[in-house]
Amino acid sequence: MNAPTHRRILVTSALPYANGQIHLGHLVEYIQTDIFVRFQKLRGHDAVYLCADDTHGTAIMIRARAEGRSEHDLIAAMREDHLADFAAFGVQFDHYGSTDSAANRRLCGEIWKSLRDKGLVVSRDVEQLFDPKAGVFLADRFVRGTCPRCRAADQYGDTCEKCGATYSPADLIDPVSTLSGATPEIRSAEHLFVQLEPMQDFLRQWTKESGALDPRIANYLTGHFLGEPLRDWDVSRPAPYFGFEIPDAPGHYWYVWFDAPIGYIAATDEWSAARGGSWKEWWHRGTDATAAEIHHFIGKDITYFHTLFWPAMLETAGLALPTKVRIHGFLTVNGEKMSKARGTFVLARTYLDHLDPAALRYYYAAKLSGDIDDIDLNLDDFAAKVNSDLVGKVVNLASRTARWLEGKQLSETYPNDGGLFARGAIDGVEIAAAYDDCDFARAMRLVMAAADRANAYVDAAQPWKLAKAGPEAAEQLRDVATVALNLFRQIVVYLAPVLPELAAETGALFGGPIQSWEESRQPLTGAPVAPFKPLARRVEAPQLEALMAASMPTAPPSTPSNPAPFGNASVTEPTDPAETLAAEPLAPQCTIDDFAKVDLRVARILTAEEVPEAKKLLKLTVSLGGEERRTVFAGIKGFHEPAALVGRLVVVVANLAPRQMKFGLSEGMIVAASGAGATGVYLLSPDSGALPGMRLH
Ligand code: MSP
Ligand code: ZN
Repeated sequence: MNAPTHRRILVTSALPYANGQIHLGHLVEYIQTDIFVRFQKLRGHDAVYLCADDTHGTAIMIRARAEGRSEHDLIAAMREDHLADFAAFGVQFDHYGSTDSAANRRLCGEIWKSLRDKGLVVSRDVEQLFDPKAGVFLADRFVRGTCPRCRAADQYGDTCEKCGATYSPADLIDPVSTLSGATPEIRSAEHLFVQLEPMQDFLRQWTKESGALDPRIANYLTGHFLGEPLRDWDVSRPAPYFGFEIPDAPGHYWYVWFDAPIGYIAATDEWSAARGGSWKEWWHRGTDATAAEIHHFIGKDITYFHTLFWPAMLETAGLALPTKVRIHGFLTVNGEKMSKARGTFVLARTYLDHLDPAALRYYYAAKLSGDIDDIDLNLDDFAAKVNSDLVGKVVNLASRTARWLEGKQLSETYPNDGGLFARGAIDGVEIAAAYDDCDFARAMRLVMAAADRANAYVDAAQPWKLAKAGPEAAEQLRDVATVALNLFRQIVVYLAPVLPELAAETGALFGGPIQSWEESRQPLTGAPVAPFKPLARRVEAPQLEALMAASMPTAPPSTPSNPAPFGNASVTEPTDPAETLAAEPLAPQCTIDDFAKVDLRVARILTAEEVPEAKKLLKLTVSLGGEERRTVFAGIKGFHEPAALVGRLVVVVANLAPRQMKFGLSEGMIVAASGAGATGVYLLSPDSGALPGMRLH
């Protein structure tokens, strides 16, 4: 095969939400995409890897409020965390933007205009639940209530976990806002919609004929969606909303899923502008040689957005359509959905505290075959595979042979190796095809087969015996080591997209970095060999145990004032950590009379407001029943949204001597829990039925 023709390839991963930390599930996608891009670059193609944080929407707005800071503050902090995690795992973006950027706002406006110009935007009133206390429209997952079908209590606003019914939040019986505990009202508001039905013919054709979609996905979409009239897509949200206000519809904001994919183009714009180019070089339409390929890597949960809405937007705007939408499945750990209670909901940074990122990159590569099936991280299998393949086969090949040539040189002419190197070079064609198809599992199998052949060669040549045989065997020893190290280097070129650090260290062993796939085709001769440092570490069982222990919940399941809209998995079997008690040991014994001096009462919070000058304080008035009121300054700012506190029952120390504070007189104390191992401050609530004024005995 001749040198591959030059391709221009724009590659994206889905933009991670700014409201959560990166976990091992996300990394299935970012590592996969990174491997693909590194492979294309190694092949000499003009590949660019773009991504950004997905910053807009209700969840960010609510979380920022709960944490008592601005949305901009919150998304800036999350961005730092995301970038640090990606860098540590070797995920190397050419540019990492934000959907909350000037470029994105401008491009949203341009695409919006083309939708308007084509007459695709219509407006309609939508009935939605509104939280009168928090002052926001409620997305379905912020509402809970009784299932209208089976009457199960405490179900989400759109589906019942008990009976599987789906419904509109307005149908819930006794709905409650998880933000404030208030009873939501049904309010009607104007929303803007993009009509998709006029795009039906285009979408059907693109789905079936463009080759962008795996046939399984194309058939599914054709069978389930494209047969029927396409429903209009609701793309606006009324204020308050954290996002971009729609220029020709004041008071309305683009829904987060409208501006998020446009973030791909905005990232291209920022990256191109910094290099004196234009995003249009990548997104213009054309079949000529100047047209670029566009590859989107996404998880299966966001298929519709990328296979229906997104192509419809691009088509309307006259921009290039995706060459490939590459859809992967979800990560399971030990065969089950990631779970906090089982310690398998592992954050990227927790993993980094215990294990080598290269091990995960290799394991994912060995598991990913480019299809939509879920992939399982079985921790025993993970240890076994990394230890046997990476350590036992690949690195061992170098560690058992490099020492014979340390400070010396490879043989001047490449010795007879029985055809092993040539065989490996031929395999390179198939390995490259597997990478190009995202069938990394197949690529890894071919590479490990080459490693097995190389190790068998060393076993048969027995260099350790040659070393003992003295000077007359020196030439032969050098030849054996030259062959083994060349086979090692060939393997490392093939693994370079997966294991960039191993590639860099191997480059250093022979005095220069590995820069091209073509380096797998020609053996090195005469080159000096630097001292060899071991290049990979084994995965040991205690590390895996520590990883899972560190991923166990240390905080109790979320309460209504700290709802779980931030992607938390639910906690089914709480495990109780020991460090809280260890950090604050029990107080010395006291008598019942000592305890009776403290008058603890149930109280209702009547008002709650921020004390702007104080970092930690909220000013509360509480009712002890009847006319009895107390003003209390409580150190819970940042953990509780004031509006969400109003109406709830708490416990107060009712007979505490009043204390003059900088901001006013504090006439009591709210009882709250805090401790090591958790950063929150947790208010106590009585069982339902308790009334203000009741004493705690
Ligand atoms: N913000 C949207 C994407 C907007 S793209 C214009 C989003 N963000 S996400 O943070 O929830 O997910 C980012 C990517 O990670 C998605 O492609 C998602 O499918 C993937 N994954 C998230 N959890 C995952 C697993 N547990 N397993 C595999 N991939 C997972 O969706
Ligand atoms: Zn039900």
